[in-house]
Amino acid sequence: MADTENLTAGRSFQADVAQRHEPFSLRGCGSLDWGMQSRLARIFRPATSRTVMLAIDHGYFLGPITGLERVDLSIVPLLPHADALMTTRGMIRSTIPPASLTPVVLRASGGPSILKELSDEQVAVSMEDAARINAAAVAVQVFIGGEHETQSVRNMTRLVDQGQRYGIPVLAVTAVGRELTRDARYLRLATRICAELGAHFVKTYYCEQDFATVAAACPVPLVMAGGKRLPELDALTMAYNAVEAGAAGVDMGRNIFQSDTPLAMLQAISAVVHASMKPAEAYEQYVRPAAQQAAAGQAEK
Ligand code: R5P
Repeated sequence: MADTENLTAGRSFQADVAQRHEPFSLRGCGSLDWGMQSRLARIFRPATSRTVMLAIDHGYFLGPITGLERVDLSIVPLLPHADALMTTRGMIRSTIPPASLTPVVLRASGGPSILKELSDEQVAVSMEDAARINAAAVAVQVFIGGEHETQSVRNMTRLVDQGQRYGIPVLAVTAVGRELTRDARYLRLATRICAELGAHFVKTYYCEQDFATVAAACPVPLVMAGGKRLPELDALTMAYNAVEAGAAGVDMGRNIFQSDTPLAMLQAISAVVHASMKPAEAYEQYVRPAAQQAAAGQAEK
């Protein structure tokens, strides 16, 4: 039994002070349940309402691509520098240290490999297992305009229904097939459909023209996808332009882990996203010195 000696009755009730209640300010997420908001606050830094997610889920349809051959060696050291890690349950259980404080966005759809029709995905993880893994969110691919469009939308809405039950948010990843144009009109359509049907946040590609209209029309946080590897300064510029146009951060993979200086690139992206650092400055501060150091190390060998 608890020690009850010397207990005093509460005295400081400050009855004249209204109860404080901090509203949850992440775009479009003010009415969500507490658990859902709490998980989103682990992904999106409350100070900036933005995120830098590190995407390494490529293996679920591409196998071990360059940079992801040994996740234990290449990715685990980067974890403390990312706001969230997007990956698969196989990689989590086999390789990601449970003591890592970086929240996980769990890939929850899959099926076809790169050798088949990619839009033919199914839900690949139960929400119960996502909860067991302590996922901060689950991610599902949505193929608007793709061959299996309806099936992929259904995957998303099923996960949203299950996520509502468990308080686990759903990230809809808008997949653009080779035959579709990544212009603002298409991206507005795809992202808006995902948000309207319940996705708690949405990932989409950047487009040079009118990306601000894509961000404006999406009522929940919009995270920019990285895409194929670009020169570092170009990738930083794309991230900068996306957040300046209204994106709530980035979810980048190859432009970080395939960079010659992955850690420096991740730090530079973070400075761009969270501190609105200009791309050239971020490049000079993080990437160039790391590249020079790496080159000097190579020369010594
Ligand atoms: C794709 O469709 C997946 O979500 C990816 O595997 C991943 O997120 C892509 O990242 P990135 O294009 O930045 O390498």
